[in-house]
Amino acid sequence: MNQNQQNQVSTPKHVAIIMDGNGRWAEARGLARKEGHKAGAQAIRPVITKLGERGVKCLSLFGFSTENWGRPRLEIDAIFRIGGQFIDEYLDELNDKNIKLQHLGNLDSLPTWLGKKVEKAVLKTRENELMTVNLAFNYGARMEILEAVKSLIADGVKPADIKEELFETYLQTVGLPDVDFLIRTGGTERFSNFLMWQSTYAEIYFSKLYWPDFGEQEIDEALHEFSVRQRKFGLVPDIVTN
Ligand code: IPE
Ligand code: IPE
Ligand code: MG
Repeated sequence: MNQNQQNQVSTPKHVAIIMDGNGRWAEARGLARKEGHKAGAQAIRPVITKLGERGVKCLSLFGFSTENWGRPRLEIDAIFRIGGQFIDEYLDELNDKNIKLQHLGNLDSLPTWLGKKVEKAVLKTRENELMTVNLAFNYGARMEILEAVKSLIADGVKPADIKEELFETYLQTVGLPDVDFLIRTGGTERFSNFLMWQSTYAEIYFSKLYWPDFGEQEIDEALHEFSVRQRKFGLVPDIVTN
């Protein structure tokens, strides 16, 4: 196997990141939690750039979960504002870098101004090809799976015809590869309802760092860890080709 082939097999196709720890990052500094969310938004840009440079074709970022609606209204509003500012600040740059933005989750229950902003960003970047960045904002895996089931029933699909490949066409990640590398920052080791179907065989990487402290060097360390992991997919090691 030459170096090129080696690189191809050891770079994840789809990285998903649970960007956790913004609140604790702020609290540790005596700041309001929203300051942590601002710092967290700042941390996204270098990570996208780095992953793009390393050849990752798809990145899913968890920004707001369906369970996060249970937080104080003031914090929720701050997260929405900061999410909107992120799009305002970086849309042109991401577009120039040939990055396609997509949204995962439910746009309808977000404030109208934010939903429109996201839709505009998706529309503007839809022809881009270097990398797909999924913004999971008001996303929950259980909601996504339930919506898929409802649509299958509404389409009158017969139970015998429901194969994995067909089911995947009803998910919001249709056409994208499975998550093969799932990163969670913040020292907590759980899924919290992120991309459960798509991460079935993901390698999972936990960092104790709070998200605002997770940067390019940490991405390199994480990708190195991925490259030395042996994936088995339920098989015996010597017949796995990745
Ligand atoms: C993750 O950071 C961002 C969101 C969930 C929106 P948190 O806000 O959960 O930060 P911690 O876990 O409280 O530190
Ligand atoms: C997961 O973090 C959601 C996001 C990072 C957007 P949470 O902070 O909401 O997860 P739990 O509550 O610790 O499980
Ligand atoms: Mg958290």
